Amino acid sequence: MDYLDFFNLSEDPFGLTPDSHYFYPSKMHNDVLASLDYAVEQKEGFSLIVGEPGTGKTTILKIFIDRWKERAEIALIMTPRLSPEELLQAILDDLSIHIETTNKNEMIKVFRDFLINHSLAGRRVIIIVDEAQNLSDGCLEELRLLSNLETEKEKLLQIILVGQPELQRRLHSEGLRQLDQRISIRATLRPLTAAETSDYISFRLIKAGKGSAILDDKTKKLIHKLSGGVPRLINLTASRAMMIAYIGASHHIRKRHVLDAVKHIPDTRPKMGFRLSTLRYTVIAIILMGTVSVLLVGYNILQRSNDSSPTPMKTMGPYLEEKAAPPSVNSPVSVKPDNSASGQRIATVTVRAARLREWPSVQAGIASVVSEGESFEVTDEWTASGGSKWYKVRIPNGGEYWIASYIVSVSSSLSKPH
Ligand SMILES: Nc1ncnc2c1ncn2[C@@H]1O[C@H](COP(=O)(O)OP(=O)(O)O)[C@@H](O)[C@H]1O
Ligand SMILES: [Mg+2]
Repeated sequence: MDYLDFFNLSEDPFGLTPDSHYFYPSKMHNDVLASLDYAVEQKEGFSLIVGEPGTGKTTILKIFIDRWKERAEIALIMTPRLSPEELLQAILDDLSIHIETTNKNEMIKVFRDFLINHSLAGRRVIIIVDEAQNLSDGCLEELRLLSNLETEKEKLLQIILVGQPELQRRLHSEGLRQLDQRISIRATLRPLTAAETSDYISFRLIKAGKGSAILDDKTKKLIHKLSGGVPRLINLTASRAMMIAYIGASHHIRKRHVLDAVKHIPDTRPKMGFRLSTLRYTVIAIILMGTVSVLLVGYNILQRSNDSSPTPMKTMGPYLEEKAAPPSVNSPVSVKPDNSASGQRIATVTVRAARLREWPSVQAGIASVVSEGESFEVTDEWTASGGSKWYKVRIPNGGEYWIASYIVSVSSSLSKPH
C-alpha cells in the first residue's frame, strides 16, 4: 500500500508546483489579485508584487493568467536573466509576434502596431516578469521604454513585475528612480497567519480527497510556528510529516512527526533558532572579550604611568599574558564544556524545539521534546565515530536522555556542585 492509498487520498495534498486547483484564497492573496485586476482594467503602466520565496507569487500569477487569458495577450517571462535584446525577443515570441528582422527599431515599430491593433479590438496586452529581481538594470530600462508606447489617451501595455523584496530595494536606487516613479500598483505578499495556516492545511487536504489523515489544532499550530506561515514551507513540512506518520502506520499526524519532518528542511524555524542563538552567544562572547581587553589595556596603562621608569616593551608580553588569563569557571558564557570535575555542567536548549533521545543517535527513539531556554544537568557525553557529539542530560523526573550537542549551549556552574 502506498502513501496515498494509506491516507485514502486521490492526490498529494501538499505538492510544490503552483496549481490553480489548490489555490487557497487567503484575504491577502485575494487582495493582490484584485489589485492586479484593477491595474489591467484601469490600464495602469507598471505594477509591482513582492514577497519572500514561497509566499505564493507564481501561484497568483497562474490564477491571474487564467482569469485574463481570454481577454488579453499575455507574455510571461519566467527566466529573466537575459540581455535587453533577448528580453525584447522573448516578449515578442511569447506574444506570437513573428518578425524577420533583428533590427531593434523595426522590432519596436512592429510591436507598436501590434499594441494599437489590439487596443482597437478592445484587448489588453500584458507583460509579466516573474523572478524580476533577476532582471538587469538594462532590461528594467528596456521595459520602461516599452511602457512609453502609448496613445495620447492611454497606456497600450500593462507590465507586471513580480519578485523578491530586494527588487523593491533596487528600484529605489538612483539609476532606477524613473521606473520606480511609474509604478502605480504595489503589493506585498506576506506569510499566512496561524489561523490561515490551519485553514490552508485543511483546505488542501479536502481538495486532495479529504482522506483519513488527522491533523489536530496543536499539530497545525506547530506547523505554523516552524514554517513561519510560508506556504512552500508549510507544504514541505506537512508532506514530510505525513510521510513519517505513514512509515509509522499512523493516520494521526502528531507533533513528533512534524518535529522529525523539519529536521532536514532548510529555513524552518528550529535551524533558524539555532543560528540566531549562536549569533547571540557569539555577540555576547565578543562583547565580553572586548571588555576584558579594554580593562587589561587600561590597567596596563595605569601601571605604566604609575611606574617612574619607562617599561621596556619586552616585559609587557608576559605581564599581559599572565593578566589576560580569563577566569574560566566564573565566566557567565562558556560554550565549551568544562571537563574538570570542579563544577556541574548545564545544557541549555538553543533551538525552538529539541528531541531528547533514548541513546545518542538520530535513529534512537524520542523520549521527549524540550523547548528553547530549558536547562538540564549534563551527566555524560559521547562522541560518535562520525564526529557527532551528544550530551546525556537529567530531566526533572530523574530520567536521563541524550541530546545532540549542536542544539544546546553548555555552561559550567559552581553553584550546584555534584
Ligand atoms: N494561496 C495559495 N494557495 C495554495 N497554495 C499556495 C498558495 N500560495 C502558495 N502556495 C503553494 O506554496 C508553494 C510556493 O508557492 P509559489 O507560488 O511557488 O511561491 P513563490 O513564487 O512566491 O516562491 C507552492 O507549492 C504553492 O502551491
Ligand atoms: Mg515563484
